[in-house]
Amino acid sequence: MFRQLYEGIKQSVLAGRITPGAQLPPTRDLARQLGVSRQTVLNAYEHLVAEGYLAGTVGKGTFVSKILPVAATFSKRSDAHPLRPLSARGARFIGPEVALNTHEGPPKAFRIGMPGLDLFPFDVWARLEARRWRRTPHELGYSAPIGYKPLREALAGYLGASRGVHCHPDQVVVTSGSQQALFLIASLLLDPGDAAWVEDPGYRGISASLRAAEALVCPVPVDDQGIVVSAGKSAYSDARLAYVTPSHQLPLGTTMSLARRLELLEWAKANRAWIVEDDYDSEYRYTGPPLASLQSLDKTGSVIYVGTLSKVLFPGLRMGYMVLPPALVDAFVQARAILDRHAAIVPQIVLTDFITEGHFGRHIKRTREAYGERRITLLEAIDSHLGEHVKAGAADAGLQLTTTFVARRDDQEIALRAGEKGIELRALSQFYLDDSTSAESLTGLVLGFAPIPIKDIRQAAPALRDVLDE
Ligand SMILES: Cc1ncc(COP(=O)(O)O)c(C=O)c1O
Repeated sequence: MFRQLYEGIKQSVLAGRITPGAQLPPTRDLARQLGVSRQTVLNAYEHLVAEGYLAGTVGKGTFVSKILPVAATFSKRSDAHPLRPLSARGARFIGPEVALNTHEGPPKAFRIGMPGLDLFPFDVWARLEARRWRRTPHELGYSAPIGYKPLREALAGYLGASRGVHCHPDQVVVTSGSQQALFLIASLLLDPGDAAWVEDPGYRGISASLRAAEALVCPVPVDDQGIVVSAGKSAYSDARLAYVTPSHQLPLGTTMSLARRLELLEWAKANRAWIVEDDYDSEYRYTGPPLASLQSLDKTGSVIYVGTLSKVLFPGLRMGYMVLPPALVDAFVQARAILDRHAAIVPQIVLTDFITEGHFGRHIKRTREAYGERRITLLEAIDSHLGEHVKAGAADAGLQLTTTFVARRDDQEIALRAGEKGIELRALSQFYLDDSTSAESLTGLVLGFAPIPIKDIRQAAPALRDVLDE
């Protein structure tokens, strides 16, 4: 009995099933649970303490040692197979082609995809939240998976006024960022093997979701008018879904022309396909009036409009939404309930107040002006320091701008070298579906400006030139 218990605990520690620092049950409790004498448990614990697997303090209990004997640390090596393999579905969630990027630490020049947290009115947010806590909000139980009703009403009002989106609040489903919306769309609308168009180069968040849903990911090229619909039609005419970023193509920064929008809608109607419009950063347009959404042109209920608060507020909020054709609402709401019941209620309530009391509009206006100045600074810096090496692409919208090399170069190598010098940027070639540096794909550098103060942009540009010179 003692041997079995000793071996069992030791193997669990070695395999990382009980982690360093974790507390073991008191000897009396464990003895009772296992139906053995307390002395058996005491003997096993004593041996393990003597060998360094456990550490005990009288009166405080017995813990797994923080410093374990050699070879007892948890291993994430890929050759360390789990005891049982993943399901075929589970295996689609691992591997470099479905891995999503994350950032660590405060933003450095030229981090992409981030708003400027230095401009966020945290004092206002804190005040709105504190006001709600003064009396226990009655909404703190389980709430509706579709989202907090006043928030859906506020979002429907905002989307109608600023994006021309036609919708009733009951078509607005609150999600955990737009990523959850993309995952639900891929899972609920596509069967394994169904073809789906994605922009190439384009956004990882959609191709990863499609792969996880076992859909066939179909790369469609992008030109200065947006996705090349004719290319999609000739290569994958019977696709069930097309994902697009019409306001501001990620990563090229182009805006989809009206002719292309109409062509895409026409194809979707004829083919009974869905269009997913990802309108992730459309609040930020620096020249000319804001453009209406693709959804506003849709007469047949083909478009699913997806939005996020990650760019306009901050990504850690994990708040997004989708506007669904009415016939899809029930299925998505039930799926959301199965996934995680509903979004956290407190941020939904505070966000509602933030929108309805005018702070949201003011924040958009203020950040649009500040990002506009940061954008001009970056364009000037490109002109004066980097013009020999790179050419700026479309720059009239968004939080970042994409440059292409004057003479073709290995952008992934340059991104690595820049990283070693403390400059954060993304290689354009990494946005291609096959992560390619093939002859047809563009290479260049994607440079974020929104979260970077002007003086840091000015400082980092000559440092980046040095990397490119080298
Ligand atoms: C094209 C695109 N869509 C959506 C998002 C936002 O994702 P989420 O709302 O999940 O934070 C991003 C962020 O980088 C993006 O680039």
